[in-house]
Amino acid sequence: ALLGGGEKPLAGRRIIVTSGPTHEPIDPVRYIANRSSGKQGHAIAAALAKLGADVRLVSGPVTIADPVGVATTHVETARQMQAAVEALLPADAAVFVAAVADWRTAAESGEKIKKVAGEGPPALQMVENPDILAGVGHHAKRPALVVGFAAETQSILKNAEAKLKKKGADFIVANDVSQGSGIGEAGVMGGDRNRVRIVSKSGIEEWPEMGKDEVAARLAALIAEKLKTVAV
Ligand code: CTP
Ligand code: CA
Repeated sequence: ALLGGGEKPLAGRRIIVTSGPTHEPIDPVRYIANRSSGKQGHAIAAALAKLGADVRLVSGPVTIADPVGVATTHVETARQMQAAVEALLPADAAVFVAAVADWRTAAESGEKIKKVAGEGPPALQMVENPDILAGVGHHAKRPALVVGFAAETQSILKNAEAKLKKKGADFIVANDVSQGSGIGEAGVMGGDRNRVRIVSKSGIEEWPEMGKDEVAARLAALIAEKLKTVAV
């Protein structure tokens, strides 16, 4: 069947999405990671593509497949993710769903770190990773619409509002990733369900608990709505 223009409201729009965790190497055989599965970010990339967007997904290491019809760049570390995202600018919108590691080791050991009798465990020196969202939120080539996520286990709204301001985002999608969030057995991280609140300058919108695919569809529709007023 022929599709009407209204069914592809994001046609002609380039949208960057980050998804998954990052891995920060310690030595050739070990890394620091987190529990992100990439399910929510990949679902958002797919939902945006379904609305006609030219989606550029930058994904950390995940076990799920690249979304169909989405140009996907695979990276490992936060610094690689940042370089890949900035190389994709300019864009009409950017959605930062990745659970980027906040810290990396100060220096990656070229050799596997060995146990040494009597010395005890090594002290890992950590340094902060660049904030990819904040970099794009304050970039000379800032997309018209910048959307972040906020994974919280406490003071969710207060923290989400602070992130909105600090990172220069238009929206923060806040989700409760605590074990007591009441979402499935797996919880938000790794599970298939999510309950989010959309935090923006104009207030807070609460969405009921739903599947990650439905969160993605609703978020894609919201992005299409917001980009309506922006020239293609
Ligand atoms: N983010 C990012 N680069 C980082 C850290 C976070 O782009 N180095 C993005 C995430 O993709 C998300 C948003 O920033 O869209 C918030 O991530 P979150 O981990 O909740 O916030 P942080 O600023 O890292 O603060 P904290 O982890 O201390 O709560
Ligand atoms: Ca973080």
